[in-house]
Amino acid sequence: MSGGKEMTGDKEVTGVFDCGPAEFAQAFGETIPAHVAERVAAYGIRCRRMPLAERDGWLRKIAATLLEAQLSKAGERRLGDWENGWQENLDRFLATPCAQSLVPGYFGKYDALRLNGELVAPASPDCERNMLAALEDWLFDAWLAEAPAVYEFGCGTGHNLERVRRVNPVARLYGCDWAGSSNRLVAAIGESGLLGQVEARRFNIFEPDTAMRLEPGAAVYTVASLEQVGEGFRPFLDYLQDNRPSVCVHIEPVGELLDPERLLDYLSLRYFEKRGYLSGFLLELRRREALGQVEILKAQRTNVGSLYIEGYSAVVWRPR
Ligand SMILES: C[S@@+](CC[C@H](N)C(=O)[O-])C[C@H]1O[C@@H](n2cnc3c(N)ncnc32)[C@H](O)[C@@H]1O
Repeated sequence: MSGGKEMTGDKEVTGVFDCGPAEFAQAFGETIPAHVAERVAAYGIRCRRMPLAERDGWLRKIAATLLEAQLSKAGERRLGDWENGWQENLDRFLATPCAQSLVPGYFGKYDALRLNGELVAPASPDCERNMLAALEDWLFDAWLAEAPAVYEFGCGTGHNLERVRRVNPVARLYGCDWAGSSNRLVAAIGESGLLGQVEARRFNIFEPDTAMRLEPGAAVYTVASLEQVGEGFRPFLDYLQDNRPSVCVHIEPVGELLDPERLLDYLSLRYFEKRGYLSGFLLELRRREALGQVEILKAQRTNVGSLYIEGYSAVVWRPR
């Protein structure tokens, strides 16, 4: 720990600390390979332990939000919001074709994040985005490095594809989304040559286009897009089983992995419900596993999240 103050015993522990490979290893519950650890350390992520009064202020905010009658629900009616959001990134990318233009606007909204069961304050630039990047580096390195083709479903601006490219220099990358502005942006990334071969596909997770076949041996991933489909993920699972990708990696809110006895988890679970976020996904995968249809390779919380939710659990599986 460096900077700030630290007291032990029954007193508060506050102060700024480096959030590097050791902290992420604790969060993920496993050692991070050295080459990934190097990348994670390079983000220079720093957080601050907050005093109880500050933490209580954030808890009060979460409670007040959960009690709000009006909170927009995820689902079919949000397509227009995504179209508008990604159009802004598209305009930015066309003006300045670089990775920075692809960063979605929703990162870093609040000065509070979840790490290892606590609320902490960001204390370095782009803290939330870099924490997710560290998580992706860990999972992508483990599961996407060898695939001849990689598909992201619900890819938004395509910014995650950059981290796939880092671990896999040769794969054909496909960014799929139901929003036309995302499709145009991913196509523009492909044309720019920024990330090598990248193609866009229009794809609705609620109603998968069965005519769109995955390349043999392809790997699939999602990041916070199944989040948006509530209980409507079953046709997509059927689609994946039918196409037989080599592996499917999901970084998504998975209520089954949280502990409702813990306050922050409880609040996260209530927020998932309130917003109509992904529900029953891991239960359904387990059901299909019991039927011998799929094999679950990993299902774990990552102890990393934003103010309202721990939305970045890791689920990895493959069709049998
Ligand atoms: C929270 S954003 C995440 C985007 C991207 N994966 C990322 O990590 O930045 C959710 C994305 O899911 C997409 N999405 C939501 N519902 C979808 C659906 N039914 N079919 C395809 N994409 C969907 C949205 O258009 C948006 O791009």
